[in-house]
Amino acid sequence: MATRIDGKAVAEDVVATARKASDALKAAAGVTPGIAVVIVGEDPASQVYVASKGRKAKECGFHSVQHTLAETTTQADLLQVVEDLNADPEIHGILVQLPLPDHIDDNQVIQAISPDKDVDGFHVINAGKLSVGDAKSAFVPCTPAGSMLLIERVRGADLSGLNAVVIGRSNIVGKPMASLLLAANATVTISHSRTSDLPAVCRNADIVVAAVGQPEMVRGDWIKPGATVIDVGMNRIPAPERGEGKSRLVGDVAFEECEAVAGAITPVPGGVGPMTIAMLMANTVVSAYRAAGRTPPAF
Ligand code: GUN
Repeated sequence: MATRIDGKAVAEDVVATARKASDALKAAAGVTPGIAVVIVGEDPASQVYVASKGRKAKECGFHSVQHTLAETTTQADLLQVVEDLNADPEIHGILVQLPLPDHIDDNQVIQAISPDKDVDGFHVINAGKLSVGDAKSAFVPCTPAGSMLLIERVRGADLSGLNAVVIGRSNIVGKPMASLLLAANATVTISHSRTSDLPAVCRNADIVVAAVGQPEMVRGDWIKPGATVIDVGMNRIPAPERGEGKSRLVGDVAFEECEAVAGAITPVPGGVGPMTIAMLMANTVVSAYRAAGRTPPAF
């Protein structure tokens, strides 16, 4: 039976470190880390995420602002908000919540964020730095960075000799996750919807990171005994057993089946989820240290 990796507890450690670092920066340099979150439209899931980012930022002692823009906001108006935040010395981190409405070009907006304030790590400069092995001066996207901290807790920082399989090739999770695993010396396979015999690919893995958005796709008989299983999925599925119209949250991994075989596994919820927001706080405090010309804390 696998050990359950407690993402909530690790996230609390990260947030506590961010809080301490924020207090120290205020005391030493008079700088308060500042984060701006921009949300466009009424997507209810995005509103919940954005509200919890704001709460966590306040918990860390940050200056936190939210820009809530109408669904009908034009691309030009949104770009102007980003430009203003780029120029605002009190803001060290800018996050534009995705998805954006269909009439807005997400990529143009993301690339308009100053790479020095891109705490999501989505700008091509930050993606490029990570890709060439310069994670130290980059901002690493929060979900893979958080997943990596969980893997480190189980396997240590050096993954030499271990096979890692990432399921999913998105720019936000799959690709940066693969770069981080490679930087830690793992032998990395990126698999995706066109991979043939995915179960066989996974059976060879000492570390599986599932980030596909398919509820409970990874089955117990895909898992090598003792493997570390990191479930990035967050899928809401109908749960009529809980009452009419009810739903529940599941990952990309069939938890009970995989728990019986794995060495360590993240639950959903309470695994990777809390790490994402914690790493956003970490990136913001790092950004504020860099802006103040000071050596940032390590997470
Ligand atoms: N939407 C869902 N997750 C994220 C995230 O990590 N960053 C941004 N900007 N939007 C998101």
